[in-house]
Amino acid sequence: MQDQPIDPRVQRLRELRARTQLGGGADKIAAQHAKGRLTARERIEILLDKGSFREIDAFVTNRGANGTDKQTLLTDGVITGWGTIDGRLVYVYSQDFTVMGGSLGQAHAAKIVKLQDMALKNGAPIIGINDSGGARIQEGMLSLVGYSEIFLRNTMSSGVVPQISVIMGPCAGGAVYSPALTDFIFMVKGTSYMFVTGPDVVKAVTHEDVSFEELGGANVHNSVSGVAHVAAESEGDCMYLLRVLLSYLPSNNMEEPPQAVTHDDPLRTDALLDTIVPDNANKPYDMKAVIRSVVDDGRFFEVHEHFAGNIIVGFAHMGGHSVGIVANQPQVLAGVLDINASGKAARFVRYCDSFNIPIITFEDVPGFLPGVGQEHGGIIRAGAKLLYAYCEATVPKINVITRKAYGGAYCVMSPRSTRGDLVLAWPSAELAVMGPDGAVKIIYRRELAAAESPDARRAELIAQYKEDFANPYVAAANGHIDDIIEPHETRPRLINALEMLRNKRDSNPPRKHGNIPL
Ligand code: HXC
Repeated sequence: MQDQPIDPRVQRLRELRARTQLGGGADKIAAQHAKGRLTARERIEILLDKGSFREIDAFVTNRGANGTDKQTLLTDGVITGWGTIDGRLVYVYSQDFTVMGGSLGQAHAAKIVKLQDMALKNGAPIIGINDSGGARIQEGMLSLVGYSEIFLRNTMSSGVVPQISVIMGPCAGGAVYSPALTDFIFMVKGTSYMFVTGPDVVKAVTHEDVSFEELGGANVHNSVSGVAHVAAESEGDCMYLLRVLLSYLPSNNMEEPPQAVTHDDPLRTDALLDTIVPDNANKPYDMKAVIRSVVDDGRFFEVHEHFAGNIIVGFAHMGGHSVGIVANQPQVLAGVLDINASGKAARFVRYCDSFNIPIITFEDVPGFLPGVGQEHGGIIRAGAKLLYAYCEATVPKINVITRKAYGGAYCVMSPRSTRGDLVLAWPSAELAVMGPDGAVKIIYRRELAAAESPDARRAELIAQYKEDFANPYVAAANGHIDDIIEPHETRPRLINALEMLRNKRDSNPPRKHGNIPL
């Protein structure tokens, strides 16, 4: 059969489309690869289900401004469209550093805005892959307008559809604020940076000498500033982790999270938990071992792993259902609540509540961290954030008190009296205004001062205090604990509680919005 001649109009389309694939050209692509980075299109390729990407606005060109930018840039430095992850719809945009450093001009911004509007209207997550020098200098303030339009939509989409940012290159200036408004920020160790002003400006203004990595690398933002939530080893690893995260999330706030397939028996018990809490209340143990023991298949997706390690937050499945887990970590600072831990947990609790994900809290907290630095840094405001977040949350809230629940920290960590739905305690639980040593020192100060052998008397009084207060039975007698369970039965009891709370309905008073102590 003779080949049909190609319609010249189709030929034109094919040629133009081929040009859209080249970004800033072969040299710039080679330079991008030489820096250990993939191109915008390659990133989309490894993120989405194979062959599922549908691009829009490939033929958009830069608008230019003030006659300074005459070159026509196909795609205008950002690839936009949709595809699927594990068969579920997601919208994705990916900035192309090979086109004017991924800088954001008017057309570039309009493409992102169009996608944000589609994601919001159609109720699916939006993923932004960021690799950008910030506002395109040649387009002047019109690029700032573009940023502002994106920020508005980030804010309007918050709590409606999941918004996830991936940082895969230098993100400078305006390029950091859209990610900062989204729910989760993923960074790649060694190749991604975020800063409002780069090392050169820092040097000029403050005379500090600092590298890209030291100023805004993945390690810094995951462990020091807390701006980022996940630090991946490579771009491939990053996309894999993002896909895992999405498996716990619903597509929008009107849906339930997807049901996971598991062969882990919901009635499985674990004898290890019966001995995990040391006899000595001052000795640590690993709360992550408790979490891994009770969740499906031992899989726990930790968020903010490297920041404020005294509290643990992350997602898991239990009986195939998504749960958000918040847990004090006795291994770090004895699990005390400080400014960073309070803010970290508050944000996570609010995320879960926005997206219908029940919250399980594992509690072993000796109180708030004392100190001038903490008080002056605003521990009162930070602690209030967590208190507020738990109080306003209407998703199912289940609490397991494994050991200490002392003082204000007890009130903060989702007790029954702040609308906790079910509070379970292990026999090792201690609920009190404060720990035995501190309490005895205060209430028996005069008696101890007058005692013939104060040390022996102190030991007696501490033993008596433990008997009277540092146990779960006083709280259970008052109904503030719903049940005292043996540690090995924690998984079946939690899954049963989640089933019991499946149809929970609760709401807050009508109002424009509350005023969380920011
Ligand atoms: C226009 C830009 C650009 C920008 C980079 N380019 N940033 N073009 N506007 N903002 C261009 C470069 O001219 C270069 O073009 C190409 O992108 C690659 O940049 P290089 O500098 O060669 O790459 P690299 O050495 O890897 O450095 C990347 C970088 C650096 C760290 C991002 O380019 C940089 O510091 N850019 C400026 C960052 C910045 O200050 N942005 C703030 C803008 S103000 P050629 O043609 O040579 O390949 C802002 C305010 C918004 O964003 C506030 C909203 C709240």
